[in-house]
Amino acid sequence: MARILTGIQSSGQNGEVHLGNILGAIEPGIALSKKAENEAFFFIADLHSLTTVKDAGIRKENVYAVAAAWLAFGFDTEKNVFYRQSDVPEVCELTWHLNCFTPFPMLANAHSFKDKSDNLADINAGLFDYPVLMACDIILYDADFVPVGKDQKQHLEMTRDIASSFNHRYGETFVVPEALIDENVMLVPGTDGRKMSKSYDNYINIFLPDKALRKQVMKIETDSTPLEEPKNPDSCNVFALYQLLANETEVESMRKNYLGGNYGYGHAKQALFELIVKKYSLQRKKYWELMENKEQIDQLLSIGAEKAKAIAKPVLKRVREKLGFNV
Ligand code: ADP
Ligand code: TRP
Repeated sequence: MARILTGIQSSGQNGEVHLGNILGAIEPGIALSKKAENEAFFFIADLHSLTTVKDAGIRKENVYAVAAAWLAFGFDTEKNVFYRQSDVPEVCELTWHLNCFTPFPMLANAHSFKDKSDNLADINAGLFDYPVLMACDIILYDADFVPVGKDQKQHLEMTRDIASSFNHRYGETFVVPEALIDENVMLVPGTDGRKMSKSYDNYINIFLPDKALRKQVMKIETDSTPLEEPKNPDSCNVFALYQLLANETEVESMRKNYLGGNYGYGHAKQALFELIVKKYSLQRKKYWELMENKEQIDQLLSIGAEKAKAIAKPVLKRVREKLGFNV
């Protein structure tokens, strides 16, 4: 049985889980978790979110939002392991141990640290150390495969370096994980055409109530071709998003509308909004049922935490023994 593991940060100011997270991480992750030969560990990286989210209430709410999204898309928590990162504090101890083996220049060269430190006002040591905590998230659970987006490739390379250099020095201790990066999964564009991201305020959160969701869809930037004139579907953000969600017939019909003229961007946005509501009606309903019943989420997470701890503790024990700490 192969163990696959991945995490989504509970960052953002409003618990946003956006279409990029869904198409890029949640749906592919759940598909992998359904294969009989896999066992999936999916968690909510709330310790990582502390690097950017300082408000306790917001972070707590975000954890529920990310959890509800995984559950609404049908993650089977009985077959698999579903937990909150901070419920297994063993990961913090392992992070300390491995910090003491991680070369400073390796962290200083991380792209994501460079990007974040260029864009954020609060450049804290947690942000710098983020990749070591992420490495520990993975190797604390003896994970074999880690499905992530292209943006996480370097973090996975660091994880492999950290795990294998420890093994080299102290003998087999960690499973050295492999990244599962689907180069074909395109980055979902945001309302401004850049990568959809919580950090850019250009996202579509499919779980929002109708009115707020419609408002986000209406924000998609388009050019100023007048209503009557034909439009180029292939250079339009609305069409790009529609294409990711619609079936072939729907896509062809919208393409014809674009090319035919007398079809405005407002019509296309309305069609996209209606498609999201229709396509994700079950998930939206389930999400809100869960968000109104947070005890149920807590209960599932606490069962997951117990399962996760049962795997984490023996791994940490191996490390303590190797390092000569009291066990
Ligand atoms: P954000 O950029 O909004 O902060 P995260 O870094 O929390 O998103 O990403 C969580 C997961 O969702 C990662 O596996 C990432 O690869 C995937 N993901 C995020 N944005 C997109 C996108 N626009 N298209 C495809 N996948 C994405
Ligand atoms: N850094 C990941 C992201 O921003 C989230 C994450 C934290 C993660 N720990 C992980 C992903 C471990 C995979 C495995 O998307």
